[in-house]
Amino acid sequence: MEYIKLCEMAAKAKEKAYVPYSHHRVGAALLAQNGTVYQGCNIENCAYTPTNCAERTAFFKAVSEGCMEFQAIAISGDSDDFLYPCGVCRQVMAEFCDMETFEVIVSKPDLTYQVYKLKELLPGGFTPEELKKGIR
Ligand code: THU
Repeated sequence: MEYIKLCEMAAKAKEKAYVPYSHHRVGAALLAQNGTVYQGCNIENCAYTPTNCAERTAFFKAVSEGCMEFQAIAISGDSDDFLYPCGVCRQVMAEFCDMETFEVIVSKPDLTYQVYKLKELLPGGFTPEELKKGIR
């Protein structure tokens, strides 16, 4: 799938954002290896900490439906800058994605985008493999 199309799907997902507190809409479109796209938006909560980012909404939708192999995720915000994933979302990506090959596409509302490998955004990240190494 062309990444411009994935960015369009992320921008569309943003329309469902539930953001009564921050008014900061975010959308994500997660492309699975089998070609399926899982869209997600941020979902806020009056107690603040239960808030779920758009990226994690997309991942949790996919995993809860049995999909665990991913190619790329596009992220879309409302500001004129590229929208980068927060640290918690980068960690969730590291749980399910290959650090060397999974691509994170940060986009702007005008659909310009930049592509990063997950490894570039989470250098030295803690992965399931690292956990296994530490178990005796
Ligand atoms: N947010 C996301 O959805 N994704 C990110 O990568 C950054 C932050 C959301 C969480 C919260 O609803 C709002 O943006 C402000 O932090």
